[in-house]
Amino acid sequence: MSDLSNTGVGGTESAHAGEQGHGFESFFPDSGGVDQSDASTNIDDETIAELRELAGRYPQARSALLPMLHLVQSVDGRISPRGIEVCAEILGITTAQVSGVATFYTMYKRRPAGKHHVGVCTTALCAVMGGDYLLDHVCSKLGIRPDETTPDGTFSLERIECNAACDYAPVMMVNWEFMDNMTPEKADELLDRLAADEPVASSRGATITSWREAERVLAGFPDGRADEGPTAGEASKLGLNIAAEHGWAAPTAEEAK
Ligand code: FES
Repeated sequence: MSDLSNTGVGGTESAHAGEQGHGFESFFPDSGGVDQSDASTNIDDETIAELRELAGRYPQARSALLPMLHLVQSVDGRISPRGIEVCAEILGITTAQVSGVATFYTMYKRRPAGKHHVGVCTTALCAVMGGDYLLDHVCSKLGIRPDETTPDGTFSLERIECNAACDYAPVMMVNWEFMDNMTPEKADELLDRLAADEPVASSRGATITSWREAERVLAGFPDGRADEGPTAGEASKLGLNIAAEHGWAAPTAEEAK
């Protein structure tokens, strides 16, 4: 739990809340800086050339920082100290600026993610449909808590916020691909198949690869799978289909005046 007592942020309220038994539990206990104690890296000349290529894709090179950090994750499995140094050098900014971005977004990992990064949504609609129960079940199945990685490095787990997939609640993610309408039984089968390296297709997207391969795609190096799968499912198109049946259409900008 973060100590806000010296920050002036909600100190008095927090103290009173504690006295009354309404403590705040952070779901981001590992939200410190990048792990500087692990200097290992797979970044080589080829990676640096690709990072430079990404920087060259934007009118202002620093706009490339987000995809560059995804590329760092694809080779190092996390945001590594070396990755931060190289990004800063290429973009002409400070390592503090790179770290500030890398530690702001939860999609950037400060510890090694597993071969498969699993997320379980527990935001409102998924929670109503059993998201917390599903997360507890996955924790028991994998023997880890959120923000941990299995000892063999196969799975890491994350409690995720709404993925804008509420029409398929409760949803899980594997390497950022949707797994819709999940149940504990479906989660068991999914995790067993991934552990056995059997092919798994996401509900609405491509065949599941690995988290590192997915990170490379997010960096801007497509793997040719973007068009696999149905993409938008029937539940997402329901309103559109009803509107089409009734001949309904949104007013034009002129009509709306
Ligand atoms: S609440 Fe889970 S996807 Fe929206």
